[in-house]
Amino acid sequence: MWSEAANRQNKAAPMAMLTAAPKKEHSMQAFLKVEGLSKAFVPAKPVFANVSFTIDKGEFVCIIGHSGCGKTTVLNVLAGLDTATSGHCFMDNREISGPSLERGVVFQSHALMPWLSVRKNIAFAVLSRWPDWSATQVKAQVETFVSLVGLSAAIDKKPAQLSGGMKQRVGIARAFAIQPKMLLLDEPFGALDALTRGTIQDELMGIVRDTQQTVFMITHDVDEAILLADRILLMSNGTENPDGYAPGRIAEEVVNPLPRQRSRADLHHLPGYYDLRNHIVDFLVKRAKAH
Ligand SMILES: Nc1ncnc2c1ncn2[C@@H]1O[C@H](COP(=O)(O)OP(=O)(O)OP(=O)(O)O)[C@@H](O)[C@H]1O
Ligand SMILES: [Mg+2]
Repeated sequence: MWSEAANRQNKAAPMAMLTAAPKKEHSMQAFLKVEGLSKAFVPAKPVFANVSFTIDKGEFVCIIGHSGCGKTTVLNVLAGLDTATSGHCFMDNREISGPSLERGVVFQSHALMPWLSVRKNIAFAVLSRWPDWSATQVKAQVETFVSLVGLSAAIDKKPAQLSGGMKQRVGIARAFAIQPKMLLLDEPFGALDALTRGTIQDELMGIVRDTQQTVFMITHDVDEAILLADRILLMSNGTENPDGYAPGRIAEEVVNPLPRQRSRADLHHLPGYYDLRNHIVDFLVKRAKAH
C-alpha cells in the first residue's frame, strides 16, 4: 500500500491514484474479510447491501459517508454486537459470530458503566482480557492509558462527573488498554475540542503505528481520514430512485497516496493532498446520496 512505487506514481500523476482502488490480491491473507454484507431493519429495504472489503494486518482503513448510510451498523457487525441480514465477516480466518476481546471498540456514544469510576471502567476491561494479572499490573496498565488520553486527574471520577469529550477519551483509553488484534473506532474524536483532538490523534496514532495495529474507523472528518487512513471507503446512502429503492453501498475505495509519515502540520503541503481532499468532498456533495 505504501510502496515506493505508489509514491513515485503519485508524484507523476496524482489523480491516477484517486480512482477506485484496484481489487487487491489479498483475499487469502487479508486479516479482516467482509463478504456481501447486507442489513435490513425493514424487510425489502436494506440500509446497505453487498458490502465487501478487506483489511490487511497493520492497515488503517477509514469509512466516510453521510449520516444514516449504515457505518455504525457495519462496525457493530464487525464487533459481533449485531448480525447481518446476509453476508459474512472473518477475522484471522475465523467467522465473527459474537463480541470478543480480540476486538477493541470505541463507541459513538462512549458506553461506559455509569456506576464505576474511570479507573474501574478500564480495569474491568483489562481484567477481562488478562484475568491472571496482579492488581499491580492492572493498575499500571490502567494508569498508562488514562495518562495517554490526558485524564490522570479524573481517574477516580465517575462518568456523570465528566464532560462528553472526557467520557469519549475514557472509551478510547479502554479500547487501547486491552491491546486488541483489531480496533473498531466509531467517530472516536467526534466530541473532542480541536486542541485535544489533535493531541490525542497524535498520541494514539503513534501507538497504532508503533504496534502495527489494524484499525477500522468511522469518521465524518475528511482531513482526519486523510491524515490517518491507508485506504478510505466511500459509502453511499440508500436512495429512492424512479426505478425503485437502491440500498447503500461502498461506492468506491480510495488509496491514500500520501507518504505514511505525515503529520497534521504538513498535510496540506504534500503533493496530492488537495486532489485527494477534493475527490472525497465531491463524493460527499455529489454522489453519496445518488446512485
Ligand atoms: N436497531 C435499529 N432498528 C431500526 N433501524 C435502525 C437500527 N439501527 C440503525 N437503524 C437505521 O439504520 C440506518 C443506519 O444507521 P447507522 O447508525 O448505521 O448509520 P450511520 O451511518 O452510523 O449514521 P451516523 O453518521 O449518523 O452515525 C439509519 O437509517 C438508522 O435509522
Ligand atoms: Mg454512526
